[in-house]
Amino acid sequence: MRVLGLESSCDETAAAIVDDGHLVRSDVVASQHDVHARYGGVVPELASRAHLLNVVPVVQAALDRAGSSLDEIDGIAVTNAPGLVGALLVGLQTAKAIAWVTGKPIVGVHHLEGHLSAVYLEPDPPPMPHLALIVSGGHTSLVRVNHHGDVVELGATRDDAAGEAFDKGAKLLGLGYPGGVVIDRLAKSGDPRAVVFPRAMTASSTGAEFSFSGLKTSLLHHVRAHGVPEGQALADLCASYQAAIVELLVRKTRQVARREGLAHVQVCGGVAANSALRAALLTAGGEDAFRVYVPPPHRCTDNAAMIAAAGYHHLVRGERADLALDAVPSAPLPRRA
Ligand code: KG4
Ligand code: ZN
Repeated sequence: MRVLGLESSCDETAAAIVDDGHLVRSDVVASQHDVHARYGGVVPELASRAHLLNVVPVVQAALDRAGSSLDEIDGIAVTNAPGLVGALLVGLQTAKAIAWVTGKPIVGVHHLEGHLSAVYLEPDPPPMPHLALIVSGGHTSLVRVNHHGDVVELGATRDDAAGEAFDKGAKLLGLGYPGGVVIDRLAKSGDPRAVVFPRAMTASSTGAEFSFSGLKTSLLHHVRAHGVPEGQALADLCASYQAAIVELLVRKTRQVARREGLAHVQVCGGVAANSALRAALLTAGGEDAFRVYVPPPHRCTDNAAMIAAAGYHHLVRGERADLALDAVPSAPLPRRA
């Protein structure tokens, strides 16, 4: 089954062609980082406009690179929730127009279900059930994945998402947007013990909840007291800040894996591209005897191959949306029994 995937929930316009839920024929991502960088975050109206400019060339490029025509597509999968509503609508309306013109079936995909599916594009994906740590710019949660589309959320952040902590921290340090990848790079030559940052929510030893807003405030106080450092001191500050985020994520993941008796753990979402998080989870897995699965960095951040992979499972179950399929800005990860 050949699926055309479309993703436009935030600041990436993406289209991909994936066969049978795991063979990536093409995977095209047009990033808008340059559009939003000078504002220090995503400006929703600018995002919608950039999606409008990009969406048709991106879909065309995905078809061209796959050597496929629309006639050879068996179904269309599009992110319809959650995200910026104007941004979502561009991908959704494009997908609906293609479905209407070609008569092909269409399904809506929850963005986080897409992130959970990215690892299934890899040769050795995790078996079911497994634990998933979802860490993106908008979400941070631990979920039990029983089957494709059958997930139970075990806990989530009470305030900021991990990606938000990275991006807001980077903004405070004048490192631009999106800042996660910049902190990751600077931290490589820094000392993670140079500055002590708080680790929140660690008292509830088996709880699966996270909190990052105190950490961000703590960085703000540090910058107010000492200014924004340069050179080695900046690298040390980035490494210390990153270590606080990573330590909390890893600590909760290993506690919940143990509590749930799950020996396979995947990590997905943009922050899963973070080199310190990847390394720390692999070390924790080695110590606690759980196996860690993580997509390559370009499949951790937003892309449409993951949406096609998730949509495949809806389509093979015979699910079909109609042209009333709508964009939903805020929606919990659906649980299907
Ligand atoms: O999944 P994603 O592309 O979009 C959302 O669904 O939100 O995640 C974007 C987030 C941003 O906060 C970005 O700073 C963060 O992922 N990110 C990283 C890295 N690469 C992307 N954070 C830390 N280290 C990275 N290498
Ligand atoms: Zn995402």
